Amino acid sequence: MKKIKIGVLVSGRGSNLQAIIDNIGIGSLSAEIAVVISDQADAYSLERAKKHNISAVHVSAKGYKGKRDEYDVVLVKELQKHNVELVVLAGFMRIITPTLLNAFPNRVMNIHPALLPSFPGLHVQKAALEHGVRFSGCTVHFVDGGMDTGPIIIQAVVPILDNDTEDSLSARILKQEHTIYSRAIQLYAGGRLRIEGRRVLITGGKTASDEYLINP
Ligand code: GAR
Repeated sequence: MKKIKIGVLVSGRGSNLQAIIDNIGIGSLSAEIAVVISDQADAYSLERAKKHNISAVHVSAKGYKGKRDEYDVVLVKELQKHNVELVVLAGFMRIITPTLLNAFPNRVMNIHPALLPSFPGLHVQKAALEHGVRFSGCTVHFVDGGMDTGPIIIQAVVPILDNDTEDSLSARILKQEHTIYSRAIQLYAGGRLRIEGRRVLITGGKTASDEYLINP
């Protein structure tokens, strides 16, 4: 299978980035990380990238207040410079504008630590606990113009236990994030994702449910 070039956008510690790096390393993901871009200068993600000889770029958001699409013009230039085919948001805490989406149509993915469409936005593990839902999980989806609204590729479910804290629930969800993000990218790399309206159909697999219905 051909290796697709991905660009990973990050803001923080980068455990999802690390999982993608590791899965490429063991050969379970046919991708090459062409560039890691952070909006935060001190993001640990940048260190992770450098350790693996991956181009690590800080694009400061200073000076772009109220001009989000101008910031995205800079991101697009950087991504195109590295011949990125698929943009992977991994804990990137900024809203993406149509400027970036139009440059990469149906080629921007995000991971979110809840079972969308429940609990979009921020601090969602806390929100799930407070709401009292019995299950939460994580979602990989294509990004559209809304906040965590795009077509869903893979979800993984985790239980919420009576003694859970925000930290313990976040950790349980994160473990699944590290599995499903690489799987979704691999399905994309294999040309197996077809978007029909809101639905993402997974083509060409024998036992598709093993690949995208994750219920540990
Ligand atoms: C992950 O839990 C990811 O799902 C979440 O940020 C965390 C980043 O962790 N993303 C969002 O909430 C996006 N709205 P990481 O830096 O260790 O990968």
